[in-house]
Amino acid sequence: MSDHPTDHATKMTWVPEASCGMARAGHLHTRHGTVPTPTFMPVGTVGTVKGMTMDAVRSTGAGIVLGNTYHLMLRPTADRVQKLGGLHRMMDWPGPILTDSGGFQVMSLGALRKLDEDGVTFRSHIDGSKHRLTPEISTDIQFKLDATITMAFDECPALPATPEVLRKSMEMSMRWAARSREAFVAREGYGQFGIVQGGTERDLREYSTKALTDIGFEGYAIGGLAVGEGQELMFSTLDFTTPMLPQDKARYLMGVGTPDDLLGAVMRGVDMFDCVMPSRAGRTARAYTERGTINLRNARFADDTRTLTPHDDTPVAGRYSRAYLHHLFRANEMLGPMLLTWHNLAYYQRLMRQIRAAIVDGTLDTLAVKLREDWAKGDW
Ligand code: GUN
Repeated sequence: MSDHPTDHATKMTWVPEASCGMARAGHLHTRHGTVPTPTFMPVGTVGTVKGMTMDAVRSTGAGIVLGNTYHLMLRPTADRVQKLGGLHRMMDWPGPILTDSGGFQVMSLGALRKLDEDGVTFRSHIDGSKHRLTPEISTDIQFKLDATITMAFDECPALPATPEVLRKSMEMSMRWAARSREAFVAREGYGQFGIVQGGTERDLREYSTKALTDIGFEGYAIGGLAVGEGQELMFSTLDFTTPMLPQDKARYLMGVGTPDDLLGAVMRGVDMFDCVMPSRAGRTARAYTERGTINLRNARFADDTRTLTPHDDTPVAGRYSRAYLHHLFRANEMLGPMLLTWHNLAYYQRLMRQIRAAIVDGTLDTLAVKLREDWAKGDW
């Protein structure tokens, strides 16, 4: 028997329940609870889903949230989070938490970072202080944060990039994935996901998938998408990538997306998503509805006594007029961003429940047509 630490604990599992075309419904079983999939993970970058109590997050039906290694290692630091009992305890979210590994966030620092085979050195966006991330350091930080799902440390190149740049970057990410796995401490019901890279190139995605499945993870993320390639290329990349992944493991498309992106990706075999879109939009007065998005700062809402949508059942849509929400944003009252974040996250969760129910019923195609028709209609 191998003495590798990941061989000793009962792993986190994903169990399929139904499928409809390529779309899958299932359950992710973890140490911190079971999550029905497909699922959308609200983003809680610095240990808070901005503007939301965790009771409010829970009330939307969210089953798992996301945290960020990069931000938390800088502030309040991984050691402090550990002393506070881990992320779950610190932020009052007993449910599962997935943490991103930091590579992607460091990339967005541009000139402030320096990459080598071993890892990346970067300057903090907060105070300019110097820090380092390697696969081992990132995995150790995620251990201290007590992440239910740890992400492998990777590099995500900006698109468009030449195939040569994509190949070199992907190959390094695969070496980093092996080191991340070595550093991962297995605990019952916890897991680690590898991240498939390779841009929009089929042969690179194939190489990457094989490298990761040879290592063996509890789930597989598809990274390197939604970085400027557009929906069509993202979907065509998913078309050939998801069939390469194991049938019995969860698949997570990182950093995606709009309601239409989520629907299209689920129909191509993706089970998990995260995106700042609904929460960031909420803070900037944009509301997602079954009829597309509206911006509540717009003067046309000043006297609009209607609720956000005709039959929307989110906690906000049925209770407050558009005119009141407009007023809150114009007056820079903090309740405006709070209410719209709540509304948007509730909308996303309801959408995922609808999609999941349609997979189980075998009616996803019909639902997809109806959802797209309604989004295209515009405001009622
Ligand atoms: N978030 C969105 N895309 C990516 C990616 O490719 N890698 C990581 N680590 N996080 C992401």
